[in-house]
Amino acid sequence: MKGIVLAGGAGTRLHPATLAVSKQLLPVYDKPMVYYPLSVLMLAGVREVMLVSTPHDLPLFRRLLGDGAQWGIRIAYAEQDRPRGIAHALVLAEAFLEGGPSMLVLGDNVFHGHDLDRRLAEGRQTGAGAAVFAYRVSDPERYGVVEFDREGRALSLEEKPSRPRSDWAVTGLYFYDGEAPSLARALAPSARGELEVTDLNRVYLERGLLRVSQLGRGYAWLDTGTHDSLLEAGEFVRAIEKRTGQKVAAPEEVAWRMGFITDAELLAAAAPLRSSGYGRYLERLLQRAP
Ligand code: TTP
Repeated sequence: MKGIVLAGGAGTRLHPATLAVSKQLLPVYDKPMVYYPLSVLMLAGVREVMLVSTPHDLPLFRRLLGDGAQWGIRIAYAEQDRPRGIAHALVLAEAFLEGGPSMLVLGDNVFHGHDLDRRLAEGRQTGAGAAVFAYRVSDPERYGVVEFDREGRALSLEEKPSRPRSDWAVTGLYFYDGEAPSLARALAPSARGELEVTDLNRVYLERGLLRVSQLGRGYAWLDTGTHDSLLEAGEFVRAIEKRTGQKVAAPEEVAWRMGFITDAELLAAAAPLRSSGYGRYLERLLQRAP
């Protein structure tokens, strides 16, 4: 399975912080935002990733992430000339995906929780169809909202409804079969001129091929799209890291734990990062008991 990180968009809700630099390059506490979704892909075992961003920001992502070899993965890059929608990323990635399944993650989403890797593995086992996660939020009208029947089966999907039928939002992590690029291409653009991921997911729902699983309160799914939510996400990560002495979403650590890189490669990645403490953390991983 290949991965797509969607790191374009306009980031207007974070202006002026994002006037000159992409939102997904801003820090969430101690690391760039894009490390969080990338770590999720890697935790799911994905080693081939396409990062989609604006023509203006792509060179910065290349500078930060390179070709991915330092983390034992391969990163390709694709330009999205303007925000054409989340589903548009699948159109851009069509050749890259070579007809295979994909895992798409939004570049501004932070996930954290016990056994996240197991939940990700569930999502991967789709076969034909698509899989998404739903998460209970206090402001569902800002998201794609899923309505469930008594048995927990998804009944409907609505994008930013003014009167939400539930408080279950669809998170920014999507698993698709190989048909998704052609289904996305066939979507009509919405009133805001975008190919909407909710429309794509509805196609799967109507065919009986959408699996929606609930991420309970034991998980954190954080938004980083506004000044307050960005700061809160940073505070959350800081609190967890201080308390446990473990980092949330350090790609070097994930790569090492997943067996993508060796001990020596972990040390090589750590060395240039020593003075912030991040590198020393990575070095200490080798001395710790599991
Ligand atoms: P949004 O939060 O919907 O949009 P945005 O990031 O442009 O922010 P704002 O509303 O403040 O202007 O996007 C969700 C994620 O998807 C985010 O990581 C940006 C990315 N995205 C793209 O890369 N291309 C797109 O066409 C869209 C709509 C979003």
